[in-house]
Amino acid sequence: MRKEYLMTPGPTPVPPEVLLVQAKPIIHHRTPEFSSILAGVIDDLKYVFQTKNDVLLFASSGTGAMESAVINCFSPNDKVIVTSNGKFGDRFVKLTETYSLNVIKLEYDWDKVVNPDDIKDQLKKNSDVKGVFVTQSETSTGVLNDVQKIGQIVKDTEAILIVDSITGLGAVETKTDEWHLDIVMSGSQKGLMLPPGLACVSVSEKAWEAVKNSKLPRFYFSYEKAKKSLEKNTTPFTPAVSLIIGLSEALKMIRKEVLENVIRRHSILAMAARSGIEAMGLKLFAPPEGRGNAVTPAWVPDGVDGKALVKMMTNKYGITIAGGQDHLAGKIFRVGHLGYFERFDILTTLAGLEMCLCELGYRFDLGSGTTAAEKVFMENQF
Ligand SMILES: Cc1ncc(COP(=O)(O)O)c(C=O)c1O
Repeated sequence: MRKEYLMTPGPTPVPPEVLLVQAKPIIHHRTPEFSSILAGVIDDLKYVFQTKNDVLLFASSGTGAMESAVINCFSPNDKVIVTSNGKFGDRFVKLTETYSLNVIKLEYDWDKVVNPDDIKDQLKKNSDVKGVFVTQSETSTGVLNDVQKIGQIVKDTEAILIVDSITGLGAVETKTDEWHLDIVMSGSQKGLMLPPGLACVSVSEKAWEAVKNSKLPRFYFSYEKAKKSLEKNTTPFTPAVSLIIGLSEALKMIRKEVLENVIRRHSILAMAARSGIEAMGLKLFAPPEGRGNAVTPAWVPDGVDGKALVKMMTNKYGITIAGGQDHLAGKIFRVGHLGYFERFDILTTLAGLEMCLCELGYRFDLGSGTTAAEKVFMENQF
């Protein structure tokens, strides 16, 4: 007998309630029934994004949402600041360069947070900057960048602030309107507890001005087309019907738990994961000043083969965790706890880690990780 535990920061587990509604016979998208579901989904997404701005949906993975922000808001040679302290910040660099924007790169080591003062300095030196790109929750490293502070800096300039909240939304506080975040994006296979394939983007008034002036070509990902159709509770092209129906159910679950409690649950799960991992004598990867709630990366201890650890977790215990990406492959491992996660998911994973590390020759007190996490859960109820 084998039981599977998906402990990655995307895709993430899908609740049975959501799976069940997706298994129903397909309905047509040009019907009052689907329009009503879509309208409800957009309303509930605004609740999760904490915004009154437009929220648009696309049938794509998260990268589609990233690309949509570039092609809808800018023109070739527009000057933009792109921050990067990980794999997904690097993706914004590649995307903006692909579309011939004039990119000022603010690059950091992967274990550092983006420094908002660097953005302030660049905006002072370059009054013609049209956009600032930031990854809120850097999934490759677990680093959380302070988009609230960056929002304060960007709001009084001509530039719009584009935030990749693909693993931020629903896991950490993301106050789109209060923090002046012009474009915020997420993907379905993350905190929204769905299979992959759906992306959502919020667009502020200031960003709509940028859309009007933008000259890059777009068709499928056109914000104007999506907005015009949404005004009639429909979509310009065939939507991901089953995913949207699933999203409707997932958003109901978030509403029922209340967003504030969802975020609190994530912060306690992250605290327990960190405590457990540190209690085993391992070192966390992300710096204390910037640790998110979506994923906990840690250094593989000396003498242990990191790739073998990740493989053993899956093959022997059915617990899928993520390894390090790019230059961190084999050096760190990442435990995801984003979306449909509860206390025993963390305890199971820590127990699996303890057994695998022990088998791979690392010496420490068995049970130290789970004990530390249990203490966090007993002291922090949700
Ligand atoms: C922070 C972040 N940005 C962008 C992406 C890319 O999303 P996708 O793989 O859905 O295209 C991911 C996916 O893991 C992510 O975590």
